Amino acid sequence: MSRPATRFTIAALLAGFAATPLAASAAGGEVEVLHFWTRGAEAGAIGKLKETLRSEGHTWKEFAVADGGGGLAMVLLNSRVTSGNPPTAAQIKGVHIQEWAHTGRLSNIEDVARAEKWDTLLPKVVSETMKYQGYYVAAPLNVHRVNWLWINPQVLKKARAKVPTTWEEFFATADAIKQIGVTPLAYGGRSWLDLGTFESVAIGVGGAEFYKRAFIKLEPSALSSPQMEKTLQTFRRLKQYTVSNATSGDWVGATALLNAGQAGMLLMGDWAKAEMLAAGKKPGIDLLCVAAPGTADSFSFDIDSLAMFQVSPANKQAQRDLASDVMSKEFQISFNLTKGSIPVRLDISMERFDECAKRASADFKSSAKRGTLLPSLAHGMAQPSQIVAPMWEVISQFWNQDKMTAQDAMARLAAAARAPNTRAE
Ligand code: BGC
Repeated sequence: MSRPATRFTIAALLAGFAATPLAASAAGGEVEVLHFWTRGAEAGAIGKLKETLRSEGHTWKEFAVADGGGGLAMVLLNSRVTSGNPPTAAQIKGVHIQEWAHTGRLSNIEDVARAEKWDTLLPKVVSETMKYQGYYVAAPLNVHRVNWLWINPQVLKKARAKVPTTWEEFFATADAIKQIGVTPLAYGGRSWLDLGTFESVAIGVGGAEFYKRAFIKLEPSALSSPQMEKTLQTFRRLKQYTVSNATSGDWVGATALLNAGQAGMLLMGDWAKAEMLAAGKKPGIDLLCVAAPGTADSFSFDIDSLAMFQVSPANKQAQRDLASDVMSKEFQISFNLTKGSIPVRLDISMERFDECAKRASADFKSSAKRGTLLPSLAHGMAQPSQIVAPMWEVISQFWNQDKMTAQDAMARLAAAARAPNTRAE
């Protein structure tokens, strides 16, 4: 990947720098990125960043934590930072960027963002997420859509079933698939996946407004409403359609089942598409992508980003180059073609992308207009850790413990929502 021409402009703008960026990069700095893209295809996607940074003369180090959803990665990041050894950048998302910025540990990268006009290139919802008190502290890589239903069309055909658009239709299709002896729903069986699935059910059962009231505004009347009860019951009903009492070995295992036709459907964000592409499948043809039942009008989003930590002066230029590379057109295209997500920049043509990515891009724009672009609760976009962590727990326990009633779960969700909100503004 070539160095973007704009890099010259950025360096020229850097206060007090007489040297050209090439000279600065030639000296080479060190970049260390902490992330949790460790599974086959997604590890390949981040590899492209490594190549670019190296070609610019920097040393690339990775602190990769094998753990989908990033729970463990955040724990390890915490201990690295508190022991005075932060990485250059870490895969931190959504509201957590604000939490970290509030601790004073993040680096201000506004000079890069201004020189490259990020404000004009990014949708507002993305740029706002990357900023703290008006300046950029993180660089965005992509937008994932969480509320997808993936379908193996061969299984569907064999079962003589139809693509479901409502939850009732979903259960009819699931019954038909069960009858031909195939697992209707591939399921990841991890707590972050439980909450992600629950989130899609909530939007489908209650609608976008209900989701906002319950999980963005945390209204007690929505958290203990008939819609919430129905959401919980619908979510639990899914379980009987999953493989061996709910688990098929995290999201990669679940996607493999769908790829192989050993399961008919999968409720999962489009990071799963990376595994489909890697298996040689054509998304939209070999595997169908439709909005999760009842959610066609909504887009629940998960933005991946690299938050920048404070680094020594010797590594500052390398960090600036990292931020700039992440936002470059070349990287946004190559990374997202592999990752399953869509680019964040508004000026990138979707021509080279598959049918599902094209649909995601169109739906992102139409949902933004409609007011149904929904920050994903399960992926750190909606609430700070002290609220989302107990919610993960409640939803997972509800899934795993059949004795827990919907009333209990609602009471505990409402209690989680009352946790002191220390979210930084
Ligand atoms: C991240 C994706 C990642 C997925 C599985 C999500 O929270 O946003 O980038 O592929 O988790 O680890």
